[in-house]
Amino acid sequence: MLGAGFVRVLFAVIGAPVLLLVAALACSTAVVTAPPSVPVEAPPPAAPEPAPASPPTSVLDGIFTGAQAERGRVGYDAHCAECHGEGLGGGEMAPGLIGVAFRFRWRGLKVADIYDSVQSTMPPEEPATLSDQAYIDVVAFLLSANGYPTGDRELTADSRLLEGIAVERMPP
Ligand code: HEC
Repeated sequence: MLGAGFVRVLFAVIGAPVLLLVAALACSTAVVTAPPSVPVEAPPPAAPEPAPASPPTSVLDGIFTGAQAERGRVGYDAHCAECHGEGLGGGEMAPGLIGVAFRFRWRGLKVADIYDSVQSTMPPEEPATLSDQAYIDVVAFLLSANGYPTGDRELTADSRLLEGIAVERMPP
């Protein structure tokens, strides 16, 4: 007969490895069955901001609207036409503001130069008496009358913007 003592010894001898094995299995099972680690929630992609419309660089870019040029025409008729003529052709006392005269005067310059010149010197007797808005509208009208295209943005009397816009020749 095997004594209880022997069983205890036997158990102690084979029991320990079995327990280790069971423990190891339990561990590896735990590892295998552990839910896949939840990835750290990535922040939702930022709502795509509407790409800021890049500022225009040329009078060929459509830098004023038709409505703005029309307002400018009204301003021109009221404050400028008496000297520069209804059709901008100039008169006895004032140069023309259209065609060759316009191109020759402003070639290689910026819209800021047109704006600054008109705003600071016109009308000659009372320069800088119109609002900035009225002056920029008149500039839009001058550009429109010289054949430059309209766009869907109004031109604003923002000197940094205007300094970036070259007065390019209309393509033939
Ligand atoms: C009382 C007459 C008179 C009125 C009104 C008048 N101008 Fe003039 N304008 C002149 C004269 C004269 C010159 C030429 C000045 C010079 O060369 O020094 C001139 C020159 C200009 C020039 C060319 C400036 C340059 O630097 O070459 C522009 C552009 C112009 N005027 C736009 C306007 C606009 C826009 C208005 C209305 C807001 C206006 N003028 C109103 C008489 C006038």
